[in-house]
Amino acid sequence: MELQKRLSDFQSSALSSLESVSDLKRLEEWRVTTLGKKSELSTILKSLGELSDELKRELGEAANNTKNTLMTAYETALASFKTKVAVEEALDITLPGTAPQLGKTHVISSIIQECCEIFRDMGFVVAEGNEVETPYYSFDALNIPPDHPARDTMDTFWLEGKVKGSREFLLRPHTSPMQVRYMETHKPPIRIVVPGKVYRYEATDATHLSMFHQIEGLAIGKGVSMADLKGVLTTLIKRLFGEDRKLRFRVDYFPFVEPGAEIAINCIACAGAGCSLCKGTGWIEILGAGMVHPKVLKSGKIEGDYTGFAFGIGIERIAMLRYGVEDIRNFYHNDLRFLRQF
Ligand code: PHE
Repeated sequence: MELQKRLSDFQSSALSSLESVSDLKRLEEWRVTTLGKKSELSTILKSLGELSDELKRELGEAANNTKNTLMTAYETALASFKTKVAVEEALDITLPGTAPQLGKTHVISSIIQECCEIFRDMGFVVAEGNEVETPYYSFDALNIPPDHPARDTMDTFWLEGKVKGSREFLLRPHTSPMQVRYMETHKPPIRIVVPGKVYRYEATDATHLSMFHQIEGLAIGKGVSMADLKGVLTTLIKRLFGEDRKLRFRVDYFPFVEPGAEIAINCIACAGAGCSLCKGTGWIEILGAGMVHPKVLKSGKIEGDYTGFAFGIGIERIAMLRYGVEDIRNFYHNDLRFLRQF
């Protein structure tokens, strides 16, 4: 009977101490003291061996019941602690999330896309050329022979090394090489625009960079004239800068066009009155163009009575005028405060 009492006292005190157990570590301590080899329960179970068969059966059953009760209590507590930990460590989906930082198209890429869209509406196809070019396509095929001063106006980045004999390579100083490359592989009618990076070996300042972007245009067909060039460029400028913008065409010289033209728009800032942006002239030069030189058509293996026009637009210049950006370097400093404005 004494053992019986010890058992029931043990069980009730163990159960009540379990109630104050507050975490997994304490629960493990409780398990060792209550159910472990050195626990009072073990001692009781061991002492059963010395009893008579009848007492052994009776107390054995009681001892097993106690053990099972305590085991079940332990397992229940264990499961509930584990659930509690899982819940505490789980993701709280009610918390406000951290929004991912979304990138956006660079302002220069946007203007290129916008221009290409305008040209597509006029039936042009977008073609891309190589940034690494040969002097032949960059100069010779465009009627700029080796001793021509026009080579100096486009200070060139030459690449080291020569491939296949004496062929040299350079970073294209304009997108015009694609004119002849495209003519060589396509028959007229041709209507393409070529957007891309160009490189010039020159000092960087507020209006010059050694890398910038151009869009080249080329149209070749029967009876293509200066009037078509004028129409295409007028459409482009009015869509980029608004219907009120005026264009001025003046004679200019580029070896690969004849006649050549320089196109200006009336000043964005003063509308023609004269200010610091237009240096008092009321006009801002924005692109070069002209009728494709017969020698260039010949380089491109265009035969028959075809004519064509070509133009080259500086994209950064367009962006600067459009958004009133005074320093071209801003586009490539990668300062997000600047870039996010567009
Ligand atoms: N390639 C010339 C430049 O980079 C621009 C141009 C292109 C002029 C086509 C006339 C015709 O300055």
